[in-house]
Amino acid sequence: MLLWLIFFTSGWTLIDGSEVEQDFMWHLRKIPRVVSERTFYLSSPTFEADARMVVNRVCGIECQKELPAPGLSELEDSLSYETVFENGTRTLTRVKVQGLVLEPTQNSTPKEAAVRRKRQVYGTDSRFSILDKRFLTNFPFNTAVKLSTGCSGILISPNHVLTAAHCVHDGKDYVKGSKKLRVGLLKMRKKGGGKKRRVSKRSKREAEASDQREGTKVSLQERPTRRGRRVAEGKPSFQWTRVKNTYIPKGWTRGAGGDAALDYDYALLELKRAHKKKYMELGVSPAIKKMPGGMIHFSGFDNDRADQLVYRFCSVSDESSDLLYQYCDAESGSTGSGIYLRLKEPDKKHWKRKIIAVYSGHQWVDVHGVQKDYNVAVRITPLKYAQICLWIHGNDANCAYG
Ligand SMILES: *[C@@H]1O[C@H](CO)[C@@H](O)[C@H](O)[C@H]1NC(C)=O
Repeated sequence: MLLWLIFFTSGWTLIDGSEVEQDFMWHLRKIPRVVSERTFYLSSPTFEADARMVVNRVCGIECQKELPAPGLSELEDSLSYETVFENGTRTLTRVKVQGLVLEPTQNSTPKEAAVRRKRQVYGTDSRFSILDKRFLTNFPFNTAVKLSTGCSGILISPNHVLTAAHCVHDGKDYVKGSKKLRVGLLKMRKKGGGKKRRVSKRSKREAEASDQREGTKVSLQERPTRRGRRVAEGKPSFQWTRVKNTYIPKGWTRGAGGDAALDYDYALLELKRAHKKKYMELGVSPAIKKMPGGMIHFSGFDNDRADQLVYRFCSVSDESSDLLYQYCDAESGSTGSGIYLRLKEPDKKHWKRKIIAVYSGHQWVDVHGVQKDYNVAVRITPLKYAQICLWIHGNDANCAYG
C-alpha cells in the first residue's frame, strides 16, 4: 500500500512539474549496433525437449557479482542467434557488436535477500484476474498472449511476440510442441451482433481496481466508455495464429552441459499473420530507482486460473545488469510475460508503457552455497534491445536509439 502511495504520489508530482520529473522519463539513448555477420545452416532440431524444464544451475545476481563482466567476443557469441523456420530448418547467425563502451563491473554491495519462502505466490495473493471484456481486448491488457506450449508472451510489433526462451527451448533442444507453435490472442466471440448487456459489478470493480493500482490515468482512448456501451456477447476465446520463425539468442543454448544462461532467457516469435491490435514497444530497462515506486507490471495466463488473464504489479527487490529479482505473485503459465513500466515521454506530454523485461519465472538461485528462490525477470539491456530490434526489422537501421 505504501509503495502504491509513493508510486501514485510521484505520478502527481510529475504532473506538477517538480524536479522529480527527470527521474521518471524514457531517456532515449544511443544503442550499440548489433549486426549480422554470417549465417549458416545447422542440423534441424529434433523438437524433443520436455516443456517442463528444470534449470539446475543458474548464475543469478549473487553469482554474477563474483564473475568478471563478459568481454566483447563473449558478448558477441551470446548475442549470436538461432532462427528456426516453419519448415523445420535452422540457421545460426553470428553477430558483431559495434559502438559498445564496456563499463567496469558495478560493485554493488550484496544485499540480504528477503525472507525465503518456498512459494510462487507470496503471502496474500495480489493478482487480479481481468474479467471485464472491455479491458481484455483493449490496450494494455490485449498485448498479453498465450503460447500453445503453455507460456505467455507479449505483442511487440504487428507480427512479433516476445517471450521467454525456455518456452521454446530447454537449453539443449527445442521443446515438443514448438515445431508447430501457435500464439493465442484473446478475442470476443461475437454472437448476435453484440446486444447491450450488463457487465457484472465484480468484474468491473476488479478491472477498475487493477487499472487504478497500475497508477494509470488511462487516456480516453484506452478507457472504454463506462455507460451505454454495447458489449459483445459470448465468452472470451483464443484466436490462434501460427508462428513462422523463432529466434533465440545463442547465449541461451551455449552451455556445454546444457546449463542455460538465465540472462538470455528470451525469444522472439514471428507470426504468420499480422494481428491488428495495438502492441507495446520495447524499451531499455532503467535502474530500479528510475522506476516509479520501483514497481513493475505484467499480465499473463497463470496455470491456476484457467484461461484467465491475470495482472499483477510489485516492487523489484534486487537487480543486476541483466536480471531483476522480485516477489511478484505468479504461477507457471505466466512465464514469458512482458514486464512493463509507464514513464513519461521526453516531450513531457504523454505517458507511455514500454516492455523492459521478460518474466522468466520462479528460479532457485545459489547464493553463497544456499539455494534461494526468486521470481526472476530478464532485463532488456541496450545490447538485447539492439538484437531484438535486428530480429524484428532484419537490419539495424531502426535500432539506433532505445
Ligand atoms: C526453409 O525455409 C527457409 C526460410 O524461408 C528457407 O531459406 C529454406 O531454404 C527452407 N528449407 C527447405 C529445406 O525448404
